[in-house]
Amino acid sequence: MVSSTIQFVYNNQICNIKNPDPNKTILEYIRNDLKKNGTKEGCAEGGCGACTIVLGELKNSKIIYRSINSCISFLPTINGKHLILVENLISKNNDLHPIQKAMVKFHGSQCGFCTPGFIMSLFAMYKNYKKFDKEIIEETLSGNLCRCTGYRPIVDAAKSLNNKKDNDHFKKDQKNIIKLLKKINNQEIEISYKNKKYFSPKSLISLKKIIKKNPNSYFLSGGTDLSLEVTKLRGEIKNMISLNSVKELKFIKKNKNFIEVGAGVSLYDFQNVIKSYYLDFYNILKRYGSVQIRNVGTISGNIATASPIGDTLPLLLSLDAIVKIQTKNFLKSIPLNEFFISYRKTKLKKGDFVYSITIPIYKKNYFKAYKISKRFDDDISTVCASFNLSIKDNKIVKARVAYGGMSETPKRAISIEKKLNNSIFSEEIFLKAQNMIKNDFSPIDDMRASKDYRFEIAKNLLMKFFYEISTKKNIRVN
Ligand SMILES: Cc1cc2nc3c(=O)[nH]c(=O)nc-3n(C[C@H](O)[C@H](O)[C@H](O)COP(=O)(O)OP(=O)(O)OC[C@H]3O[C@@H](n4cnc5c(N)ncnc54)[C@H](O)[C@@H]3O)c2cc1C
Ligand code: FES
Ligand code: FES
Repeated sequence: MVSSTIQFVYNNQICNIKNPDPNKTILEYIRNDLKKNGTKEGCAEGGCGACTIVLGELKNSKIIYRSINSCISFLPTINGKHLILVENLISKNNDLHPIQKAMVKFHGSQCGFCTPGFIMSLFAMYKNYKKFDKEIIEETLSGNLCRCTGYRPIVDAAKSLNNKKDNDHFKKDQKNIIKLLKKINNQEIEISYKNKKYFSPKSLISLKKIIKKNPNSYFLSGGTDLSLEVTKLRGEIKNMISLNSVKELKFIKKNKNFIEVGAGVSLYDFQNVIKSYYLDFYNILKRYGSVQIRNVGTISGNIATASPIGDTLPLLLSLDAIVKIQTKNFLKSIPLNEFFISYRKTKLKKGDFVYSITIPIYKKNYFKAYKISKRFDDDISTVCASFNLSIKDNKIVKARVAYGGMSETPKRAISIEKKLNNSIFSEEIFLKAQNMIKNDFSPIDDMRASKDYRFEIAKNLLMKFFYEISTKKNIRVN
């Protein structure tokens, strides 16, 4: 069934919007149409968290609560979900929610402007976890900026929620919400608003038909890159095809040799799977944007943008990952190493989309990755480096070295790899290899760093990798 009406649950009832403007953000809808002004606009580019709201989603008949940046999420993506705003936290008898009580008690509301965003991030944490340690609290708050007073009172408020029984009114209404969500979950969406079109197919077959009829459309995954065309550049996206509801793209396949991640998997879901294979991949993902960004952003979106500073890309390159591309007629696999052509250009032809990414598992290899950015959390890389080394009898059998932020595309350092391959694993060979960096890259000066800095840091990261594996110790500042 195809519908032009999006449906979602709000305030314990199903709401309908027929043919909404696909370029309208959820934030604009909340503030201008619903007239709920608790949710704030700070940066309008996903960076400050003032606009954080929570969407409830059904997964195996349970509700998963995800915090998102409403300023960079298009309204139609709300379809099939439960919209929760800061105004909804208070109970019918005007009792503050436990999160709000804790924020009052610990003086966590300081400037006030950013507070609703903090509360909503904490709300998602409160609903999704039973206990919150330092790591969970810090991760939860990584996408909410406080630039006036400090995080301590907010962290104290979060800590105080530990071991409190979740008995809020959402818990009490849960059965009803699930019933409502089940009622609305089955529609494919096709919106036509003035000169704009938006499609949200549910199956690969429908997706292919839509692409055939609308070959000039943009694909929408998490929208954490695409939406900025509208919110920041004030442009317009005429035709959009959302990949978010295509069930065949939401998969993670694992066996002893590889992991295959479908295009529809969020970075947040992926981070928890990759953790048991490559800890440093997980560590980099934990510093990728924020929870709000990773809750919607996808690895396929990161690959398709081909950004020179896309964080997963050097890691995937060093692991010899394979991209599966769905073309008009068939599914083809190509090494990621051959996928990037030039600045933000890939081998994708019109109508092609990234179907999945396959990551080989090298159990015996040394794999490490480092991200250098100005801020630890919620910042993009100046340089990102990834190393994957197979050593046998103290000899380097295969070296993979890849960098982001060093050229117009993320790239492997072929000269460094050549120098390392078939050599004795030693400081001497790494010192020689690091000097090959100028053969592989010619970085630029920009606001994040000078080209000399980039060269220096790239060389140092290679040596850091060597010292970390030879001393079996992580040399990290957290
Ligand atoms: C606040 C903020 C922080 C960020 N922090 C980081 C960071 O730390 N590290 C980092 O690397 N990036 C970061 N980004 C950039 C952004 O998150 C990435 O580019 C992201 O991976 C894009 O994925 P997405 O699913 O949101 O893609 P979208 O925005 O939906 O799409 C991006 C582009 O790819 C195309 N596309 C999407 N999916 C597919 C597909 N399956 N096949 C073909 N084309 C497709 C779209 O048409 C669009 O052109 C940040 C962005 C924001 C707003
Ligand atoms: S307004 Fe800053 S993240 Fe949305
Ligand atoms: S409490 Fe709002 S910016 Fe610090």
